[in-house]
Amino acid sequence: MAFQAWLGKTVVDSNLSPYKITIHMVMALVIVAFILYIIFASKISFKAHIPDATFKKMLLFAIFLTLIQVVLGTQVREHVDEQVKAVGYVKSLWLQNPTLHFYVHRTFSIFVFGLNGWLLFRNRTLQLGYRKMDLVMLCIVFEILTGIAMYYFDFPFLSQTLHLVIATILFGIQFYVYLENRKDFIHNHANNSEEIVSSPTKKIGL
Ligand code: HEM
Repeated sequence: MAFQAWLGKTVVDSNLSPYKITIHMVMALVIVAFILYIIFASKISFKAHIPDATFKKMLLFAIFLTLIQVVLGTQVREHVDEQVKAVGYVKSLWLQNPTLHFYVHRTFSIFVFGLNGWLLFRNRTLQLGYRKMDLVMLCIVFEILTGIAMYYFDFPFLSQTLHLVIATILFGIQFYVYLENRKDFIHNHANNSEEIVSSPTKKIGL
């Protein structure tokens, strides 16, 4: 955390140097992950879930996609900061000529939505029990809505802050579901319940 505080200072001193903003953002997410890990490790009772190898792999991939989307988003933010310096607070001009990063960022949200939608579907149909997947999807919907608000309705009040905060919450919940999933695998392995690990579909006859 001391490193992050020092990095925050250098980000500001460097006049919001782009790659430093990105490292600062990624470091913030590492700290979020670390705190969630400590909270999870100190828990004494756990809800029961069905561990599913495919869900686990795809969830890891979804977290990776979120990280890419966050890095792309910070590149868009960098462009917006430059526009603020150039044209001032005329919000309608901030994304008048966006860089390629913006279009990639906007399109990438379709993949983020699709993959997490698939995870939610699998979680529900196989009754895996990861209820926080509903919150993940809710965050993604709000993230897309705030993104749309910024681009198509010229950055309404609070839209930038909400977009940033919800992205952090999204990553946090996904990471927490991963911790739950990982714990279920370890627990299941200890109980030698190989069948459930390898094939939840068998269990419900799909
Ligand atoms: C899952 C979907 C999304 C995620 C996780 C995400 C995440 C992010 C993040 C972390 C930032 C950096 C914010 C900052 O540093 O202040 C950002 C910036 C931005 N994103 Fe997204 N985003 C998503 C979807 C979208 C969509 C669909 C749009 C547009 C239609 C959009 C438009 C923007 C814009 C305009 C910025 C610059 C914000 C600013 O100036 O503060 N995003 N995004």
